[in-house]
Amino acid sequence: MSNIRPSRRTFLQATAGAGLAAVAASPVNARTIGANDKIGIGFIGVGGRGMGHVHTCKSLMDAGENIALVAACDAYGPRRDEAAKKFSMKPYRKHQDLLADKDVDVVLIASPDRNHVPQAIDAIRAGKDVYCEKPMGHWTQLGLSKTFFEETRKLNRVVQIGNQGNSNPLWRKLGEIIQKGSIGKPQLVNVGFFRLGDWGERMPIPDPNAKPGDQLDWEAFLGDAPKVPFTVDRFFSWRKYLDYAGGPCTDLFPHVYTPFVIAMGLGIPQFAMATGGIFKYTNYDREVPDTFSLSMDYHTPHPCTVNISCTLANDFMTPPTIRGDEGTITLKNVTWEAGCEAINVTPVGKSQGEVIPGSKGDSTKAHWVDFLKCVRSRERPVADVEFGYRVQAALCMGMLAWKERKVAHFDKAKQEMTLG
Ligand SMILES: NC(=O)c1ccc[n+]([C@@H]2O[C@H](COP(=O)([O-])OP(=O)(O)OC[C@H]3O[C@@H](n4cnc5c(N)ncnc54)[C@H](O)[C@@H]3O)[C@@H](O)[C@H]2O)c1
Repeated sequence: MSNIRPSRRTFLQATAGAGLAAVAASPVNARTIGANDKIGIGFIGVGGRGMGHVHTCKSLMDAGENIALVAACDAYGPRRDEAAKKFSMKPYRKHQDLLADKDVDVVLIASPDRNHVPQAIDAIRAGKDVYCEKPMGHWTQLGLSKTFFEETRKLNRVVQIGNQGNSNPLWRKLGEIIQKGSIGKPQLVNVGFFRLGDWGERMPIPDPNAKPGDQLDWEAFLGDAPKVPFTVDRFFSWRKYLDYAGGPCTDLFPHVYTPFVIAMGLGIPQFAMATGGIFKYTNYDREVPDTFSLSMDYHTPHPCTVNISCTLANDFMTPPTIRGDEGTITLKNVTWEAGCEAINVTPVGKSQGEVIPGSKGDSTKAHWVDFLKCVRSRERPVADVEFGYRVQAALCMGMLAWKERKVAHFDKAKQEMTLG
């Protein structure tokens, strides 16, 4: 098991900014990007998801978006060089060198979870705007995530967190339906991510004999994680290990939870409890759970409970449900990254009600379009950093509650999380 042992009281402020240089008053290198200027993109982490982003940006560029694919950075040389060669980008081994490149205006961060926040903080301090993959950070980095949020504001940077499904207008429409009182006061949400199998076990190992050296930067991969000896499995199949990932709560729940944070205006929960374990992948070297349930209570904006569950045992879908004192909303045929077919609103005492059309679409493209628009206008993107921090706080509370088998409490006035 991982040697991460969160102390009984985890203070947000206590770890904020740990190991980082003092913040500058304003970024020195930030370029003002006009409406007609080309935006140069640097990609940090060009594995599975990172290359997906390169392809999305290439297709946006081919469709007339005024952007350039400038640079690729990866801790594994063969991936970095292949991406750089194929898309005529400059290869960088260290993300710091990519950030020093004046042709890079914005960065995409798709390295493993543990590297997101430290690299994102370095990026905003270098004057870049950031598209940061979900989860915003590792589950042990709540204080650092808060620093990222606060410094983004101080440095006037634009940050989009990579819950791409949030770019579907569906979730704001759902919010309007709830706000106009269609189900009375929403009091209970039940939602899940059900999948047959996990990526952790399937992540490709391109070279089983790979070793740290010129072509593999183990130190960069570890970042602020415990210094343990190199293994090929930790480097390439990092999703299985608690030092670098969290399993369903941090990998899958960002997609499932964020629509309800948008629609219901949820803040940081007051309490969080979690259950689960390794029930399917018992024969593998794996630390993260494959079954996970998170239950959270909120006092504001209205008292309610949100339950999120995940199993990797099978993918039989049960519809997400929001129950209020006057009715129930169910979502038909949800695909979390794309949207849903219909929003069904059923009043109390009836078996059928209104059926409101939903919408589905290529959300990663939409998320980039929203981000690039905001880079030019300096508005806040749909999955802005403050929203990302609220979500991250809930996920960290869930992970710490599960790991310690305790209840996580959040004191809004003190901005402090404790376990009890
Ligand atoms: N939004 C989505 O739908 C979605 C989908 C998949 C993955 N993701 C997120 O994207 C991230 C990457 O996931 P993946 O599946 O692509 O993993 P991956 O292992 O395929 O890719 C990660 C890459 O980062 C590189 N890397 C490791 N440490 C680095 C460092 N310090 N600097 C630069 N590069 C480094 C690795 O060598 C690897 O090539 C994860 O955080 C994951 O949660 C999001």
